[in-house]
Amino acid sequence: MMKKGYEKYIPFVPLKMEHRAWPDKQITKAPIWCSVDLRDGNQALVDPMNLQEKLEYFHTLVDIGVKEIEIGFPSASETEYEICRELIDGGHIPDDVTIQVLVQARPHLIQKTFEAIRGAKHVILHFYNSTSTLQRKVVFHTDVAGVKQIAVDAAKLIYELSQSAIEEGMDLRYQYSPESFMGTEMDVAVEICQAVIETIHATPEKKIILNLPTTVENCMPNYLADEIEYFISHLKSRDCAIISLHPHNDRGCGVATAEMGVLAGAERIEATLFGNGERTGNVDLVTLAMNLYTQGVDPELDFSHIDAIKDMYERCTKMKVGERQPYVGELVFTAFSGSHQDAINKGFQYMEQSGTDMWEVPYLPIDPTDLGREYEPIRINSQSGKGGAAFIMHHKFGYDLPKAMHAEFGAIVQKESDRLGKELHPQQIYDLFDREYLSVPKTYQLERHSFQEDARHGEQSWVIFDGEVGYKGKVMAAHGEGNGPIDAFFNALHDLPEGRLDGYEFVDYKEHAISSGSDTQAVCYIHLKAPDGRDVFGVGKSHNINRASLRAILCAVNRAVLEK
Ligand code: KIV
Ligand code: ZN
Repeated sequence: MMKKGYEKYIPFVPLKMEHRAWPDKQITKAPIWCSVDLRDGNQALVDPMNLQEKLEYFHTLVDIGVKEIEIGFPSASETEYEICRELIDGGHIPDDVTIQVLVQARPHLIQKTFEAIRGAKHVILHFYNSTSTLQRKVVFHTDVAGVKQIAVDAAKLIYELSQSAIEEGMDLRYQYSPESFMGTEMDVAVEICQAVIETIHATPEKKIILNLPTTVENCMPNYLADEIEYFISHLKSRDCAIISLHPHNDRGCGVATAEMGVLAGAERIEATLFGNGERTGNVDLVTLAMNLYTQGVDPELDFSHIDAIKDMYERCTKMKVGERQPYVGELVFTAFSGSHQDAINKGFQYMEQSGTDMWEVPYLPIDPTDLGREYEPIRINSQSGKGGAAFIMHHKFGYDLPKAMHAEFGAIVQKESDRLGKELHPQQIYDLFDREYLSVPKTYQLERHSFQEDARHGEQSWVIFDGEVGYKGKVMAAHGEGNGPIDAFFNALHDLPEGRLDGYEFVDYKEHAISSGSDTQAVCYIHLKAPDGRDVFGVGKSHNINRASLRAILCAVNRAVLEK
């Protein structure tokens, strides 16, 4: 039993809102994205990235299409300073990308930050101080006026210091974060941000970014959305600000917080790849972007090679992306459940047959190929159904098993997975198929054959089979006639002098071509009813279509006699 430890926690007190507009809104365009991987993400790593790793990461973000990138905290350490200088002096920053640098609202750090950004073309200078009731009480031992003064003093200094940089041609913008925004009384947050807007001379033409962080996520996302809506509607100089969010993920709701915050009027989101960041991380940029994508909204970011991005991320951060991480985890385009596998299969068939332009596959919210991934790894374990193994055989190896055969082969695969107590990989499934059908022990074997077709019977042709069939090592002459090659051979087997195949009924037949490289062969599937009423299937493959069907018949027969 858990102790009553929960009693020591102070619940979040939501705003009292009479009316709220955000629940009826829809997201119809991507927000401005800002990556904080190289700052918030980096500072949360066991081993922060070195210069080479940061550069590689930076270039990946640029390739993805992120236009605002927080590159670090250059006043915090020499390493951070040098990385900032290398990005600028080394010419790594494309003209359409703005770098962002973070600094605490403290004069000497602000001075140092201006030195660090010298010569950069487009910069967002991001300053912050904590404004929450808790931090005022336990960290700063000050009141609202005290934290407001810190913000205003910093804004004043930044404005003064920026004039020469702007004169020298830098496109310099400002960003202010009332850190721990969610734990700040809304009227206090509005008052401090309004004072910053005025001190820094923000205008509708030169807007300040007001970044409202959920520094520690401490309430449900709908409460945050209420706060954002309240904040925006009470800010006098709303038209002088871009409202940005910076969600962390302590309650696991970072994505919902960001999405609902956008509904409430936020225009910009700070996020990291795969949600790296302090504690439970920052909000995940990939999930946010791809959530928009699957709602028919252009995220304006390119994640079409998600595995390469994941590799870069894991290499540079030494972190691991979880197997169930949305859109990228190893298992997210995999179905183990039989009913899911069948439905996915049907979805693919529907897409193919209907020619629809829309994505309509159950259990797959996104086309994996849009991320450079494949659905092919349908995974087969003892929970998997009959459709899964058939899907692998079709999509991985080109064998399009007839529907009636799915159950039989599915059961064979399931039995093997149960026996081994683990998942079967595609090659193991193929090996089972080969062992069961293509390489079945040959009690009966076709040694030689010829067909003669007599077309004198008008519409219907008449085919005569002549050949030799081996039975338990003994070769016998075989002769049969029928309305086609299969029928003729089947009848020949009925009349063998030894090992007569009495009582087998022909049920169905399917064939298709199968290619590997420049080699194309015919594959034939035969469905027979054995004398004891069992359904038996056989598979034959050959460059010659007739031979493929004869092999399929013998395969079915050989399997039937083997099972007896
Ligand atoms: O989480 C946070 O509040 C921050 C600020 C510095 C923006 O990272
Ligand atoms: Zn943060």
